[in-house]
Amino acid sequence: MLFKQLFDQDTWTYTYLIADPMTKEAVLIDPVNTHIDNYIQLLAEHDLQLKYTLETHVHADHITAGGLLRQRLGSETAVSQLCGAQTADIQIKDGDIFEFGEGEHIKVIATPGHTPGSISLLWRDRLFSGDSLFIGGCGRTDFQGGDAGALYDCITQRLFTLPDETLVYPGHDYQQRWVSSIMQERTTNPRLAGKTREQFIDIMANLNLPRPRLIDEAVPANRYCGLDENERQDAIVVRDKTRPIRHELSTQDLLTEAKQHISEVDTATAKKLLAEGHIVLLDVREESEYAAGHIDNALLLPRGVLEFKFAHVPELADKNKAILIYCRTGGRSALAANTLQSLGYTNVLSMAGGFEAWQNA
Ligand SMILES: [Fe+2]
Repeated sequence: MLFKQLFDQDTWTYTYLIADPMTKEAVLIDPVNTHIDNYIQLLAEHDLQLKYTLETHVHADHITAGGLLRQRLGSETAVSQLCGAQTADIQIKDGDIFEFGEGEHIKVIATPGHTPGSISLLWRDRLFSGDSLFIGGCGRTDFQGGDAGALYDCITQRLFTLPDETLVYPGHDYQQRWVSSIMQERTTNPRLAGKTREQFIDIMANLNLPRPRLIDEAVPANRYCGLDENERQDAIVVRDKTRPIRHELSTQDLLTEAKQHISEVDTATAKKLLAEGHIVLLDVREESEYAAGHIDNALLLPRGVLEFKFAHVPELADKNKAILIYCRTGGRSALAANTLQSLGYTNVLSMAGGFEAWQNA
């Protein structure tokens, strides 16, 4: 068998290629969009046919190459059914088996916690643990619907019960370590070894990590298998050139772009609309900001989890209902308004200047 561990320097992401040199069938796990040419070249070098691209979850730090590989090579994209990636060819469920090559199979183990739809993949004695389990760590659980308790349960009950010698290949490593084993993680992982569920939850609640640089771009894009709006139109069309690399867009660029597509109101207008009623008020700041002070009757739905949680908020069930969004200064709310519009909401407003302007008014 052919096995390669590939690395994306920009986001410290590992991508895995597994292929059967006899039948030529290949699978890529967590491919990164900026490396698509390398993947195509690598596949061509070994005369391989890409059957599947498998995502361990909807990534917040990079954009998947899955959609583009489907367009260029005809491979099938597979993402957990809990990720809300409706354009994926295959909606993965716990226990699914992906068959390829001569009797090879990759088994899906649901490992929710980093995100609700996170999975790990087991091929022979190798576990691809995505962002659920890292070498000496694990994925964060403070956004994208993360749940530290759920992560503890699935790591201790589903991964640490695999044979000790199972090799662990993570979705990232920030110190360029390549591989670990179940025994090594069970006995030495500082967040998990000898830790109770409560201790683990406490550790995860106090990591104080910065927000991922690319989250506003990557999460929505990955729900469409990494394709931008134009590319989503034409499903399986062979393309000669890769999409322009949007990787280099700064937050400011994203904001400028978002503001061109949304409607803003000032605080006085917002106040009037709220007084009239019939409008849902959405606070998209973080929980701690909301707790420190918010506008009366505002629903809390942080920007980082918007795409994952909006469908579960009863007040947002009617996509034609008027929605007023605010954040601290009006940036996040503009991005959130843009996102809600792309999800089909027809009457979305962002409050310019945010809660700061509201308090000053
Ligand atoms: Fe992740």
